[in-house]
Parts: sequence; structure tokens; C-alpha cells
Amino acid sequence: MLKLTKLTLAIAAVTLMASCGKKEETKPAAAPASAPAAAAAKASEAVEVLHWWTSGGEAAALNVLKKNLEDQAVKWNDMPVAGGGGEQAMTAVRARVTSGNPPTAVQLLGFDIQDWAKQGALADMSALAAKEGWDKTVPPALQAFSKFDGKWVSAPVNVHSTNWVWANKAVLDKAGVKEIPKDWDGFIAALTAVQKAGLVGLAHGGQPWQDATIFDGVVLATGGIDFYRKAFIDLDPAALNSPTMVKVFDRMGQLRKFVDKDFSGRDWNLAAAMVISEKAGFQIMGDWAKGEFINAKKVPGTDFLCFRMPGTQGMVTFNSDQFAMFKLGADKGAAQEKMAKAVMDPAFQSAFNVVKGSAPARTDVPNTAFDDCGKKAMADLAEASTKNTLVGSLAHGHAVPASLKNAAYDVITANFNGKADSKKAAADLAAAMKK
Ligand code: GAL
Repeated sequence: MLKLTKLTLAIAAVTLMASCGKKEETKPAAAPASAPAAAAAKASEAVEVLHWWTSGGEAAALNVLKKNLEDQAVKWNDMPVAGGGGEQAMTAVRARVTSGNPPTAVQLLGFDIQDWAKQGALADMSALAAKEGWDKTVPPALQAFSKFDGKWVSAPVNVHSTNWVWANKAVLDKAGVKEIPKDWDGFIAALTAVQKAGLVGLAHGGQPWQDATIFDGVVLATGGIDFYRKAFIDLDPAALNSPTMVKVFDRMGQLRKFVDKDFSGRDWNLAAAMVISEKAGFQIMGDWAKGEFINAKKVPGTDFLCFRMPGTQGMVTFNSDQFAMFKLGADKGAAQEKMAKAVMDPAFQSAFNVVKGSAPARTDVPNTAFDDCGKKAMADLAEASTKNTLVGSLAHGHAVPASLKNAAYDVITANFNGKADSKKAAADLAAAMKK
């Protein structure tokens, strides 16, 4: 992370250089000279997009991008790889690159972008970025991942965050939960009330990335922002194996008691469906969960509630989905440029993120089209970046590279399934997360 921090600091200097440097640029589609020529040009413009947006809400959001490109006569070849959090998708990308056949564009998160850039696999989008002014509108926390060696290698489409809770209003009414819990004890009391009303307290899917998503919020709620930074950004062994971390795991154990017996292996969107269909009270999940509620025509404030994990208001654990263009022949350049340009268009960022549940990846997109949860996401993000309480999500590849993230998953999941008590889990975490 040290490296990345330096990279962040270097951004201001790099910004100037990027806009001065003359880069080779793919020509924008010229006005057609004749109908057959235009048809030929159009036929060759296609993008193959590898992504993991396969749930109802995710697919609806992706359709906004697909349509945008199809309106520009860019054919969309879909390459979906199911599996929330993108682990399976990353395996598929590696296989494609190894066989010398990378997709045109790939959905990537945080450190994975940097890893591919380090290997020289990603196209340089700096010329387009300079022309479109990305340096001025993309927040530095995102640029730290979008740029490698001062060059733009990916286009951020959103900012999600993981320290959210989603609740069904009717279930809370039934259980007599009158207000949004403000602290840990209040949250446990509300979960208990829902369970006592005969419903599932916490809708959860037992998959390592989902366990880790809950963990992001529990760490913040228990240790606060400085502790999170020490543990997962600085990888300080004393923080990783500390009484505070033991308490974090104790709290994970508390949450485990509110999960139903069929949780193991369940997909996150099916857990969201339990809240939507009044079978469960709460789900702790990133704001892609809102996409499911919206897709089911549910209204925030009326049908469902969104709030920050109790005890974490003012702090944000973020992750940003970005599209990287893999280095391919010049014939793919025009379509890649159109896609990157579409992703970064302010109107598109509004339309897409309204459906996806995320906040825009640009600071100049108005919040007018967003619902109350979306407006809150944008306000919280702005507040957290001003107050320096914005940190990368461990669960979603924005705190440490994949190897360490996966090591953390193993420990978190073992503990959640009763295979390691809190003390052992904290010690294991410190042992696993060595710089
Ligand atoms: C995240 C990704 C989100 C969301 C989620 C579940 O890693 O950033 O866009 O789709 O996975 O699939």
C-alpha cells in the first residue's frame, strides 16, 4: 500500500505531464463518406466485455451501458462470469490472457487493475483522459487505482461502498423496531427483535467474499477509521493481532447467530431477496444490494431502509468498478475508445449509477436523479473524502492485493464457520497478512 500512497501523492505532478505529453490517439469515428463505407466501419466496431454483473439489478445497470454503445453502433459481445465480488471472473480473465486472447474490456477492481497494468497488459488511455479532462473530475482515491506509472489504464464507472445495512420496513414494523439502530448494541437488539418475531434476523450468503464484506463494516464499527487503516492499509501486526481485532471476531460471532441455517453458499442477491420478500429483517451488503430492491420496484424510505453499519456513519469503505481495455490490435482501438468515453460521460454516470446503487465516479455529476439512498451515498462519500475517513474495502480489493485479500478471506470465513475462535482468528490474520 505504501507504493500506492506514493502513487497517490504523485498524481498532481503526473496530471500536468499527462496533458502535455503527445500520445498516439485512436481516431474518433469520422463522418461516413458513403453508406457502404460506414456500414463496413460499423460492422468492425465491437466490444467483448467480461464482467460479473449477472444479478437482476446488476444486469439492469449493465444494460444502460450496452444500450449506450449500441446507439453508437458498437456491437456488444457479452462475456458474463457469475459470482459476486468477481473472483470467478478474475480466473476467467487469467485464462483468456494466458491463451493469448484477452477480452476487449474487463470489469476490474482496485489492486487487480494495478496487477494487470504491471504486467503491461492494459491499453494506455491517457490521450482520451487528457482530452476529456478525467484528471480534474475523478477523485484522487480512485485515480490511485485507475493510473499506473502516471498513465490512465482504466475508466472508473462508479463508487460503491461496503459499510451499508439494508432493512425491510414492514419486517421492522412487525418486530416493533421503531428506529434505525445507532450503535452496535442497538443493532443487536433490533436483530434479536426480528428473530423473536419468527423471521430471519440477518440475510446472509455464506461465501468468503460476503463474510469479508460484513467484516469490513464490523472492523470500522469496532475500531474506527484509524484502526482500520493500521490493520488493513499499513498491515501493522500489532493492530491485526490486537484485543480490538479479537472483539471484531467476537462481534462476527454475534452476527452469526442471526443467520438462518441455509446460509451456506447462498448468492448475495438471494440474500437480498429474503429482505425484499419480508423473510428477513436486515442484510449487511455493499450498495449494489440497492440495485436488487430497485429492480424489484421497491421504494427507499417506504419499503426498505438504507443506513450505514451502526457506528460507522461518517466513514466509508469504498470499492470502484472500473473498465480496463486490454492491449489488442489497432482495429479494436476505436471501439475501446468509444466504450471508455461512454463510461466516463457524466450523463451516463448518472443514468447507470441510479440503477446500479452506486455513486458516480466523477465529482461533477448532479445528485438530482438519485433516490434518497443514492443521495446519501454521494454525500457520505464527499464527507469522507474531505474528512479523510475514506478507506479502500478489504473485501473488494481496495486495501491489499488479491493474494493478501484471499488470505484474509480464509481466516474470516474459518472464524465465521466456527473453525477458529476469535483469539486464534486474530493471530491467524496477523500471520496471513504479512507485507
Ligand atoms: C462487487 C462489485 C459490485 C457488485 C458486487 C456483487 O465487487 O464492485 O459492482 O456487483 O461485487 O457482484
